Amino acid sequence: MTDRPPTDTGVIDAKPQDTTVQEPQVVPFARPSSTTEPVRPRVLSIANQKGGVGKTTTAINLGTALAAIGEHVLIVDLDPQGNASTGLGIDRRARRTSTYDVLAGTMPMRDAILATAVPQLYIAPSTMDLSGLELEIGQARDRAFRLRTALHNINAGTPSFNFTYVLVDCPPSLNLLTVNAMAAADSILVPLQCEFFALEGLSQLLKTVDEVKKTLNPTLSIHGVVLTMYDSRNNLSNQVVADVRQFMGRKVYDTVIPRNVRISEAPSYGKPVLVYDLKCVGSEAYLRLATEIIQREKELKAG
Ligand SMILES: Nc1ncnc2c1ncn2[C@@H]1O[C@H](COP(=O)(O)OP(=O)(O)OP(=O)(O)O)[C@@H](O)[C@H]1O
Ligand SMILES: [Mg+2]
Repeated sequence: MTDRPPTDTGVIDAKPQDTTVQEPQVVPFARPSSTTEPVRPRVLSIANQKGGVGKTTTAINLGTALAAIGEHVLIVDLDPQGNASTGLGIDRRARRTSTYDVLAGTMPMRDAILATAVPQLYIAPSTMDLSGLELEIGQARDRAFRLRTALHNINAGTPSFNFTYVLVDCPPSLNLLTVNAMAAADSILVPLQCEFFALEGLSQLLKTVDEVKKTLNPTLSIHGVVLTMYDSRNNLSNQVVADVRQFMGRKVYDTVIPRNVRISEAPSYGKPVLVYDLKCVGSEAYLRLATEIIQREKELKAG
């Protein structure tokens, strides 16, 4: 990965000028120039400025499912709420170095990385300090590139990591943290809850992705939209699925995550649902989503 120098505009203006939604472009893989270079992980940022749509649940359980099928995964908790860290059983006292220290520029990313109870799944935890970051680095020229720089060469050096995927859990806002996540990402994964206002705010999210693409990260793409908390007994859920598929077309993953009580119980035990109850419909859905994502990646590589 090559770091682009920061633009002097820095943080983008998240307010859209119009509401036209552009069909997101898929970009091909950047291949390493030599076989001796460490493999660069794919960075997928999980973003939606709407609260409670399943971003963190997807980060934890997609991360676990990817690790279960052989990938090496780092989850970066970029939300001051720290739900991804808590949901993976990381005690607050264990978060001695956090994503706050990393984005403030005082610690390298590798010092924040902790192993989880799931083999091949790691997390860079967050703390509440992260909520003050924007005030602290808001004037810095490289403020939008802190995460990108921190992930650069993550697989080089000691201890040696060989991450194939980095999943970034974003806060429910289009603030500097989310802009950092977008500037560092290859692709954005958008969870949408199957509810009446599902599409509300999606235009603004896509507009922001487009702005980041223009100003900070020209190869950024939308990886896909995952529908969450689907309830087959509810006609509204089916209507939302139909509307979102019509609006976003092939960008919507075939896998739909059902509303499942085991998914919502698991975080209180500090466990991903795949560890809490591997056989439940929620676990099966996240395994299918992981397989679909890997398949999409193969198609991108081939294309
Ligand atoms: N498929 C599901 N079935 C049942 N409950 C779910 C499901 N997905 C998420 N939830 C529950 O919905 C709530 C919100 O989910 P989650 O925290 O993942 O959303 P979020 O987008 O990360 O929220 P925030 O915007 O606050 O960060 C949580 O209590 C979670 O356990
Ligand atoms: Mg969350």
